[in-house]
Amino acid sequence: MYKINDNYLKLPGSYLFSTIGKKVAAYSSEHPEKSIIRLGIGDVTQPLAPAILEAMHKAVDEMGDAKTFRGYAPDLGYEFLRNAIAREDYQARGADIKADEIFVSDGAKCDSGNIQEIFSLDNKIAVCDPVYPVYVDTNAMAGRTGTYDAKTEMWSDVIYMPCLEENGFAPELPKETPDLIYLCFPNNPTGSTITKEQLQVWVDYANRAGAVIIYDAAYEAYISEENVPHTIYECQGALNCAIELKSFSKNAGFTGVRLGYTVIPKDLKCGDVSLHALWARRHGTKYNGAPYIIQRAGEAVYSEAGKAQLKEQVAYYMKNAKTIREGLKSAGYTVSGGINAPYIWLKTPGNMTSWEFFDYLLEKAGVVGTPGSGFGPSGEGYFRLTAFGSYENTLAALERIKKM
Ligand SMILES: Cc1ncc(COP(=O)(O)O)c(C=O)c1O
Repeated sequence: MYKINDNYLKLPGSYLFSTIGKKVAAYSSEHPEKSIIRLGIGDVTQPLAPAILEAMHKAVDEMGDAKTFRGYAPDLGYEFLRNAIAREDYQARGADIKADEIFVSDGAKCDSGNIQEIFSLDNKIAVCDPVYPVYVDTNAMAGRTGTYDAKTEMWSDVIYMPCLEENGFAPELPKETPDLIYLCFPNNPTGSTITKEQLQVWVDYANRAGAVIIYDAAYEAYISEENVPHTIYECQGALNCAIELKSFSKNAGFTGVRLGYTVIPKDLKCGDVSLHALWARRHGTKYNGAPYIIQRAGEAVYSEAGKAQLKEQVAYYMKNAKTIREGLKSAGYTVSGGINAPYIWLKTPGNMTSWEFFDYLLEKAGVVGTPGSGFGPSGEGYFRLTAFGSYENTLAALERIKKM
């Protein structure tokens, strides 16, 4: 008789966004006359930039001609894309990352979920709390997180690093030493960032403790302030202790196109074993490469026209972020984020729980956001709004919130 992977049975409840979807659908069917503005899911709304479309059309035509047709892509990604990434995202910032240390993939969700596979099951993970849920859930599926306590909403074998107003939503070094440390800056969900000096403290700590940092930089394009690192490899010693995950979803609107990459420096070793070699083995065995057309689209992100157009797109979303941030502040809310990230993190008013505020906002304003508690126990009492809607909807949502 076969057995299932019963780690799956330990996973709590349904996925946050499906719960939200069900609540909104129920509300809409009861109140069909009410218009709803969705500032919940972190999905982009602006169309692909012209430079990207042009590159995709050209690549589609190449696929239709026997002379330029391409089959399977190289396991680790096409050279043209890896070279552009190494040059523009790393070397231009003084980070010593080479094209052959970059693994192209179909996005950061898969990579952030799969990366744990190359580590032993008895490694202990540390995560920020609140956190992007994929890091913990994929470790739970693998059997690395112990047992789940529904009361505390915590796993027995996970080190939680609370990120609260008191510490500026930046994690403190944990008391218990972890093996794998997940960090994400600019942060989802809190929209916070840390300075280069603060990140250097983490890199030094990881090197001292013999830990690996898995650094998710999916929102790097939204950094607007000086002294916020664009990559962990700006820090001294990061080549020996850090893996970086990047996505084309939020900087270039590729949420439906699908493209990302992982950087594993060749200097990152566990004893004599290179993590780069392990991930190359995994990637080569389980993955057949992102599509040629999409990798050409990714290359166009780094063209002069692409860069200029995407700067405008990011600015469009950040104008929304400012509208939300300042609008909420003027309405008396306590808010953070929205300066280096497309997320605004607000304290729920009147000691409401996150889900109470979700219902209140939906009923009174017809606005959908995301309850902070869905990202971890320290998210309780907070709420996330995203800047990824249209400007018109963002303005309308703020007008409604101010009238509540
Ligand atoms: C922190 C973080 N990492 C990764 C992802 C997923 O990125 P991708 O669309 O490349 O899979 C998201 C998506 O919302 C995210 O918030």
